[in-house]
Amino acid sequence: MRVLGIESSCDETAAAVVSSDKEILSNIIYAQIAEHQPYGGVVPEIAARNHLTYLHQVIERSLLEAELTLTDIDAIAVTAGPGLIGGVMVGVMAAKAMAAALDKPLIAVNHLEGHALTARLTDDVPFPFLLLLMSGGHCQILLVKELGDYEILGSSIDDAAGEAFDKVAKCLDLDYPGGPEIEKLAQQGNEARYKLPRPLIGREGCDFSFAGLKTAARNLILTAEVQSIQDKADLCASFQAAVKDCLVDRLQQALKHLPDNVKHVVLAGGVAANQYLRQALTQVCKEQQKIFVAPPLKLCTDNAVMIAWAGLERLKRGWVSSLDFQPRPRWPLTELKNG
Ligand code: KG4
Ligand code: ZN
Repeated sequence: MRVLGIESSCDETAAAVVSSDKEILSNIIYAQIAEHQPYGGVVPEIAARNHLTYLHQVIERSLLEAELTLTDIDAIAVTAGPGLIGGVMVGVMAAKAMAAALDKPLIAVNHLEGHALTARLTDDVPFPFLLLLMSGGHCQILLVKELGDYEILGSSIDDAAGEAFDKVAKCLDLDYPGGPEIEKLAQQGNEARYKLPRPLIGREGCDFSFAGLKTAARNLILTAEVQSIQDKADLCASFQAAVKDCLVDRLQQALKHLPDNVKHVVLAGGVAANQYLRQALTQVCKEQQKIFVAPPLKLCTDNAVMIAWAGLERLKRGWVSSLDFQPRPRWPLTELKNG
């Protein structure tokens, strides 16, 4: 079986074709970075208009690269939320139109489930597994029991980790998206230079909090202390180290109460592209005899391969959507339907 995936929930216009034997036949992403960079973040209206302009070209390229035509595709999977609703609607309308015209099954995919299941495509991770989902808008630790069956063990009580990276980067006048920029600059920095808080560390439970850390970093930047490039690099390194300590502590908390049959820990979402964080979490898992998995970098940030794959997992179980499903700006993983 071959599924065409479509992703348009943020600022990446993406289409991909994936087969049921786990072959990525194409992976096309038009990242709208240039359009949003002048504003230092994603402008929802601009994102939606760009999806409308570029989506059909991106879909055509994904078929061309896969050397397939639409008639060779067995189903169409599309991000139906959560996300910026204008963009989600563009993708959903395109997918509905194609499914209706071609008389093919349509699968409404939860974007977060796309991130969650990528490690099953790339590393054959079995259910159940522990998931650290760290993206621009979401920050959660979940137990993934089965397809569509998620238990939230903890989540951020304020900012998501990616959001904190982006906001600190903006204060430092770095380019958008901020995560990769902070990671790059941090490589030349001294992480012991600035003392920053580690919110919630040592507390019971698996919740996160990044607002206090972000504000502390911003306050430092606003003082005269952070001036030179070296100061900025030191600030990036100190901030990244604080995020790392928070993630390590929260993971350790989650591992304390994990059922014995959970052998795998998966890091997913855009922040999972961060090598420094990956290394720290790999070490924790090694110490606790768990297998750490993070998808290849290009499948961590938003893409349509993950949507096609999540669609395939659902299609294999016969879980398809009707043409009248509604896109959802908010859609927690705990509200997924099985079937
Ligand atoms: O999953 P994603 O591509 O989009 C959402 O669904 O939100 O995640 C984007 C987030 C942004 O906040 C971006 O700054 C962050 O992931 N990110 C990173 C890195 N690459 C992307 N954060 C830290 N280090 C990175 N290397
Ligand atoms: Zn995402």
